[in-house]
Amino acid sequence: MVDINVKGKVAVITGGTRGLGLDCAEIFVRNGAATVAITSRKADACEKAKAYLEKVGREANVNSKIISVPADLSNESQCKEFYEKVASQVDRVDILIANAGATWGEPLETHPVSAMSKVLTLNVVAVFQTIQLFAPLLEQSGSPEDPSRILIMSSIISLIASDPAGTYGYAASKAGVSHLGKNLAVQLAPRNINVNILAPGFFPTKMSNGLLKVAGDALTDANPRGRLGTKEDIQNVVLFLCAKQSNYLNGIVVPIDGGAHLAGSPSKL
Ligand SMILES: NC(=O)c1ccc[n+]([C@@H]2O[C@H](COP(=O)([O-])OP(=O)(O)OC[C@H]3O[C@@H](n4cnc5c(N)ncnc54)[C@H](OP(=O)(O)O)[C@@H]3O)[C@@H](O)[C@H]2O)c1
Repeated sequence: MVDINVKGKVAVITGGTRGLGLDCAEIFVRNGAATVAITSRKADACEKAKAYLEKVGREANVNSKIISVPADLSNESQCKEFYEKVASQVDRVDILIANAGATWGEPLETHPVSAMSKVLTLNVVAVFQTIQLFAPLLEQSGSPEDPSRILIMSSIISLIASDPAGTYGYAASKAGVSHLGKNLAVQLAPRNINVNILAPGFFPTKMSNGLLKVAGDALTDANPRGRLGTKEDIQNVVLFLCAKQSNYLNGIVVPIDGGAHLAGSPSKL
C-alpha cells in the first residue's frame, strides 16, 4: 500500500478560508501537516476557517498548528506583512499554494478597465510576490528526494478560448499565471522547489456560484464526465502533488475537469 501524505510538513495556502483553498487546507490537516497557514482579507473568515481546521485536526487525531493571518494580497505591503507574520511563526515552509483569486464577468463594451486591472493584480502580481517572498523558506526545506512544492491555482480557462461570461481579465490572468508557473518550475527546480499548476474546471464555490446559476445544466451537459468538480477531486490531486511520491513532476499543468478542456465550454450560457 502506498502511503501518500504530508506528515510533518508546513503548508501555506492563500485564500484558504473557503472554497478550493479551504479544501486544500483540510486535506493537509487530515494527512498530517504540522502547520497550515491560511490567509484572506476578512479577519472573521480567517478565524472561522482556523476554528474549522482545528476541529478537523481533532477529529483526525492530528495535532496541526493552524495560523490564520488576514491580509489583502493585492496590496504589496499587506502581502509582505502576511509573509512576515507567517515567517515569524515557522522555521520552514514545505508547501505553498498560491490560490487566492478573483474574477469579473461583463460584456466587452462595458467591461471596466479597472476590473481588468484588479483581477490581474491579485491573480498574477500577488501570486508572483507571494512566491518571491516565500522562495527562500521553501528552498531551505526542499531536498533532492522531496523538493518543496509550489502549486499555482490557475483554471481550465487558461486552456480554452471560449469565454461566454466575458471574463477577459480572468482568462488572461490564468493563462499568464500558468506560464509564470512553467517559467518558475525551470528556474526553481535546481533549488529543490517544484512548481506545478492546477487547472480546475467548474467547482461550486462562492466565486463560481453566480455563473453556475446562470449556466443551469449547460456546464454539466458539456462535461465528458457529466458533473461538476467535488471537494475530493481537488483534494486528491493536491495531496499527491505535495507528497514525496510526485517529486519528479515539475512544471505541469493539471486539468482537474473531467476532460472538459478537450470538449470545450459552451459558447453561450
Ligand atoms: N471554483 C471554481 O470553479 C474554480 C475553477 C478554476 C479555478 N479556480 C480558482 O481557484 C481559486 C480559488 O477559487 P474559489 O472558487 O475557491 O473562490 P472563492 O470561494 O471566492 O475563494 C477565494 C478565496 O480567496 C480569498 N481572497 C479573495 N481576494 C483576496 C485578496 N485580495 N487577498 C487575499 N485573499 C483573497 C477569499 O477570501 P476573502 O474574500 O475573505 O478575501 C477566499 O478565501 C481562485 O484562484 C480561482 O480562480 C476556481
